[in-house]
Amino acid sequence: MAEPLRNDRLLRALRRQPVDRPPVWLMRQAGRYLPEYRAVRERAGDFMTLCRTRELACEVTLQPVERFDLDAAILFSDILTVPDAMGLGLHFVEGEGPAFARPLRSAAEIRALPVPDPESELRYVLDAVRTIKRALAARVPLIGFAGSPWTLACYMLEGGGSREFVGARRLRFERPALLAQLLDTLTTAVARYLAAQAAAGADALMLFDTWGGLLDAEGFRRFSLAPLQRLTAELAAAAPGVPLIVFSKGAGTRLSELAATGCAGLGVDWSVSLTAARAAVADGVALQGNLDPTALLANPRAIRERVAAVLKDYGDAPGHVFNLGHGILPATPPEHVAVLVRAVREHADGVAG
Ligand code: CP3
Repeated sequence: MAEPLRNDRLLRALRRQPVDRPPVWLMRQAGRYLPEYRAVRERAGDFMTLCRTRELACEVTLQPVERFDLDAAILFSDILTVPDAMGLGLHFVEGEGPAFARPLRSAAEIRALPVPDPESELRYVLDAVRTIKRALAARVPLIGFAGSPWTLACYMLEGGGSREFVGARRLRFERPALLAQLLDTLTTAVARYLAAQAAAGADALMLFDTWGGLLDAEGFRRFSLAPLQRLTAELAAAAPGVPLIVFSKGAGTRLSELAATGCAGLGVDWSVSLTAARAAVADGVALQGNLDPTALLANPRAIRERVAAVLKDYGDAPGHVFNLGHGILPATPPEHVAVLVRAVREHADGVAG
């Protein structure tokens, strides 16, 4: 039997149960803005070696939790490990981001894509999950994650990072059935991968649909939402009781549709107020967010003001997970993150007292 978590604020908030204060963690909380991360990253040599070495992945996962006393840890890995395991050959070009040696270039390649077995091709990720769980010793929950099928397809068809992802968007118009087939394979792969992370010890799961906002309304339903719906259903069966958070960037007008997938919580970016988001989902799911990450570049007084504004915007109801509206920026001073975390705690103390 697993030891019960000593800090279960995140899990309670995701079930919309009362908490003494909102849990706080930050998307991309482990990363280059931390000098201790840069030191381990240098020791590892490159990013994928860091991901593949369980002791090092564990060390960088715990760094922000220890430095800021956060309410959750997130597995240190990347969303692109799944396409890598499907044979695309992931590497990171210094200063340029991710790149695939073999991006998808033909219908035949899409049809031939294998669904990886998580315990073999992605075993290094599951080993990291097991190592981190042991090191956390039930202190805070561990969040496992994956990319959404649409977002993974964007990278696989582009061959790397982009602002426009014209490959996937063109395919959506030109050969929608072929895109649907790719998304179907990815949905199966991601469902198995996340279920395996839960089996290895992840206490909550998160899906990053970073590029959902690139799709028009109909395209979003068909190519982003429909795969997420299938994923939610399959995970409810394969990992019952493990809450799933869906973050679809730019989905401010699509929150009610996303809530209807049956996920436990929705990540919300800063383009929408939490008051409006709560109304849109009729308090049917928890909400995670939504401070603009550039606020952390501003001075401490401005940070405290914005934290108070986000907490007030959500209001005094269960179901809020304090977070940013997207990942923390590499230029963020670590002391500013400490200011944010303290402000969340002090605001809650003020309300309670
Ligand atoms: O702390 C955490 O949040 C856990 C680790 C994590 C990473 N990537 C580590 C990482 C998580 C959850 C991700 C998710 C991820 N990866 C997303 C979705 C989240 C989002 O921000 O929308 C996406 C789109 C990726 C793909 C990716 N990985 C890109 C585009 C890049 C290069 C850009 C960059 O920030 O450098 C990465 C590399 C990456 N993933 C780094 C980290 C810490 C930086 C690598 C380095 O150390 O040089």
